[in-house]
Amino acid sequence: MSEDAVHGANGAEDIREVVRERYGSVARAVAQGATSVSCCGPAGTSGCCGSTGETCDPISSNLYDVAQTAGLPGGALLASLGCGNPTALAELHEGDVVLDLGSGGGIDVLLSAKRVGPTGKAYGLDMTDEMLALALENRSRAGVPNAEFLKGHIESIPLPSNTVDVIISNCVINLSGDKRTVLAESFRVLKPGGRFAVSDVIVRGGLPDVVKASMPLWTGCVAGALEEQEFIALLTEAGFEHATIEPTRVYTRDDAAALLAGTGLDATLADEVSGRIMSGFVRATKPRGPRPAAAIRPATPNDLPAIERLLAGADLPTSGVAEIVMERPGDFCVAETNAAPTRIVAVAGLEVCGDTAVLRSVAVEPEWRSHGLGHELVRHMVCDAEGRGLRALYLLTMTAEHYFPRFGFERIERSSIPRDIADTVEFKSACPATAVAMVRAITPT
Ligand SMILES: C[S@@+](CC[C@H](N)C(=O)[O-])C[C@H]1O[C@@H](n2cnc3c(N)ncnc32)[C@H](O)[C@@H]1O
Repeated sequence: MSEDAVHGANGAEDIREVVRERYGSVARAVAQGATSVSCCGPAGTSGCCGSTGETCDPISSNLYDVAQTAGLPGGALLASLGCGNPTALAELHEGDVVLDLGSGGGIDVLLSAKRVGPTGKAYGLDMTDEMLALALENRSRAGVPNAEFLKGHIESIPLPSNTVDVIISNCVINLSGDKRTVLAESFRVLKPGGRFAVSDVIVRGGLPDVVKASMPLWTGCVAGALEEQEFIALLTEAGFEHATIEPTRVYTRDDAAALLAGTGLDATLADEVSGRIMSGFVRATKPRGPRPAAAIRPATPNDLPAIERLLAGADLPTSGVAEIVMERPGDFCVAETNAAPTRIVAVAGLEVCGDTAVLRSVAVEPEWRSHGLGHELVRHMVCDAEGRGLRALYLLTMTAEHYFPRFGFERIERSSIPRDIADTVEFKSACPATAVAMVRAITPT
């Protein structure tokens, strides 16, 4: 079947066949030594240039840091056809099992395999033989033994249930004609507490019907893209919780014009779709099941060893913590299990500074994560700060910039941080230049 219009296709199977043809020909071009290939965006546009930085397909260009891809074979970069950089945004730990849906030439599988180390494993799943051949070639050039590529469909994942810690994917789910099944399968193979961490094209505010019916735009990752709220609703329906979408690149009118070029559609549609198509990072979690009971209470000096153990386990700074817990224990709170023998499984603390404070030291034991306990602790600390009449809460974070806006925190420039906050132990001792500063204003009630 040819690339004409989606309504010429007889459902998910036919769409899959056209997608396979498209990406098979991209993989063949790379294997034959092409220096740039057409990927996301309609077939026949100028080349994909994630690796080279040429002006080209607005979706796939310039996604990876040079430092991140150093050591990967050039073929892996050239065949990079994604719309984001999931391994940079996903939480990956040593020993994790990662699965990349629609792994293409394998770039994200190789990067994940390095991140999870020899005790972990990264699987790539793809249906296109030519892509799998490219990925195997790239794996042997990169010398990454803990990467494995599987042939199959993302609508029927060839792995047992409850075996994967993290599902990543890069610009693939939009290509499926049966997204509900892809999400149900993702839920099935994830372990309880497992993470869905996917880059994809997302629509905000709807696309014209002619765009949605264009097969070149479907295989080019645009026409099949889900609406933001639709994606969240499908994830929730599949059983996921805490589903969020973080925009990573919003496409301008010029980008839209580049995407429409060669599709046969009216170029003036670019005005209509400008700003409505974006790349986004989609996160969701498979629930762990009912959480064992734990109660939040103010810390006491006796809790200090447990607090320090939790912070060290989460690689968080402990400087200044002993002073606070011994002198003003109520500035910290802990979560303690109810069943005997009781145990402290989470902590959060404030470093108070006049009428403002720094929220620091939020740590939850690994097996208690994804139960909403960290969420409860942060809410508790925010209410506590409100109750004390504080004016604002500040924090520094290296990894959780996406997490805190749900509590009302906003990113701020380091230069806007008040002097007394910049002088706190937290800001002085735990302040790598790359940490993001955030603030939550508190309105007096
Ligand atoms: C846009 S490319 C992205 C490749 C890769 N994720 C990257 O970032 O370079 C889409 C890939 O998904 C694969 N794919 C598309 N639909 C699929 C499906 N239903 N099942 C398995 N693989 C699929 C294609 O073969 C292709 O390799």
